[in-house]
Amino acid sequence: MKILFTASEVYPLIKTGGLADVVGSLPNVLAEEGHEVRLLLPLYSGINVEEIHLNAGPVLGNPFGFGQMRLQVGHIPNSTVTLLLLDCPDLFSRDGGPYLQLDGSDYPDNHRRFAMLAWTGAVLSTYGNLIDWQPDIVHAHDWQTGLVPAYLKSWRQRVPKVVFTIHNLQYTGFFEAALYSELGLGEDMYDPEGLEYYGGFSMLKAGIQYSDAITTVSPTYTQEIQTEAYGCGFDGLLRSQQNKLTGILNGVDYDVWNPDTDPFIVANYNVHKLDDKQVNKHALRERCRLEPHNGLLFGIVSRLTTQKGLDLVLEAMPQFIDQGAQMVLLGSGDKSLEEAFLQFGQQYAGQVSIYIDYDEVFAHLIQAGVDCLLIPSRFEPCGLTQLFALKYGTLPIVRHTGGLADSVWENKENLPQTGFVFDQSVVEDLSEALSRALILYQDRESWRQIQQNAMRQDFTWEKAGKNYIQLYQSIANER
Ligand code: ADP
Ligand code: GLC
Repeated sequence: MKILFTASEVYPLIKTGGLADVVGSLPNVLAEEGHEVRLLLPLYSGINVEEIHLNAGPVLGNPFGFGQMRLQVGHIPNSTVTLLLLDCPDLFSRDGGPYLQLDGSDYPDNHRRFAMLAWTGAVLSTYGNLIDWQPDIVHAHDWQTGLVPAYLKSWRQRVPKVVFTIHNLQYTGFFEAALYSELGLGEDMYDPEGLEYYGGFSMLKAGIQYSDAITTVSPTYTQEIQTEAYGCGFDGLLRSQQNKLTGILNGVDYDVWNPDTDPFIVANYNVHKLDDKQVNKHALRERCRLEPHNGLLFGIVSRLTTQKGLDLVLEAMPQFIDQGAQMVLLGSGDKSLEEAFLQFGQQYAGQVSIYIDYDEVFAHLIQAGVDCLLIPSRFEPCGLTQLFALKYGTLPIVRHTGGLADSVWENKENLPQTGFVFDQSVVEDLSEALSRALILYQDRESWRQIQQNAMRQDFTWEKAGKNYIQLYQSIANER
């Protein structure tokens, strides 16, 4: 099959979170299975074009008056997937990140930027002659590409079929009603049965309404978002679309995340050579200026947002630090959380190290060097860091939600323990999980057994890839 991916980030070119990891891995797995995949992405100024050897592609003109657009064609290093970059300097050559300005606020024209990305995806899949290639399936990801099926619908195109993956329902791509007229979609689609959402419009809702299949990134999240507590106002709509909704758990790219071959850690190790994990722990402690110690070292690698529940850590952790535990955090995001963690680090200097930063390489050393990774999320569509942690023999401490519930086991029938799981988003539950970890850590034999259980878990992309292929095939043949 021919599959066009449309997305707003991809590892290793441009990344703010797990979406980039998924878009960097899944197309390769599909290509290995013999499918032809192309990936459409904006040409942000943050992308290092030297690595991708771009050739000028077709000119798209300036149909909406937002800027001259053309395609540039290249390849991601170490990938056979063709990269189609939407080159529109007026929209994508900016100083900030993919979505936010340097001061942390949204770009005021995000509706235009991502409407043009989606419009281009729809044009490429309808007018295949532009790139001499006609996809059978468009696979769109998150609100930034939610308008792909809306454009196809408004042009009355039944082919190609569209799969829309929700990586995070909380980002709704909501804009005020007055901006709707800029999208080039008919008034008839500005309707509760269409894009209309609480008095404005939502690009995510467009993806839900008009695609042929909807997926989310774990089975549990698929159930959760059909409830009011997790549905972000879409639960009713999602329940009504149940028949086109499935959950496919993300995988891990073990070429990137494998302690046995990882070039970014101090000593490579595997399940048979687990003692060398300690070498990384010592190196991490030194780098983080933590006092020498032989107690448990907790780690966090995360975006700092309310989703991740890390405010609970600030409340729960002090008593355990007082008992000799230590902690390292690498993260960035909400200013108030950044400041609270910096203060926490100052208060417990020598026992707690805080890095407000985004550092792909350092993330690997933390995964290798800590004993436990904390992911107390309020909701977590899939989560990738717990999957990395398992492979590194780093026991995840997670809340029982979304993909965390589908990948980490403690007291789960017939499944060996691989981490620590707590129920409610409250300090007491997290504290109990932390104390279970500390108690178990005293029993080195049992700890090692659980590490081995964790390292033997297999979350390769191949399984997920097969599920996506099955889904593509089932809808490609629908009339
Ligand atoms: P989300 O996409 O919600 O942020 P995931 O667990 O799916 O959560 O993916 C997060 C990805 O971003 C992982 O690859 C993780 O290692 C990475 N990451 C998050 N914060 C940082 C950071 N501060 N530095 C380096 N990598 C980070
Ligand atoms: C989102 C979710 C995260 C998921 C990632 C990749 O960013 O927050 O849970 O792992 O997408 O699907």
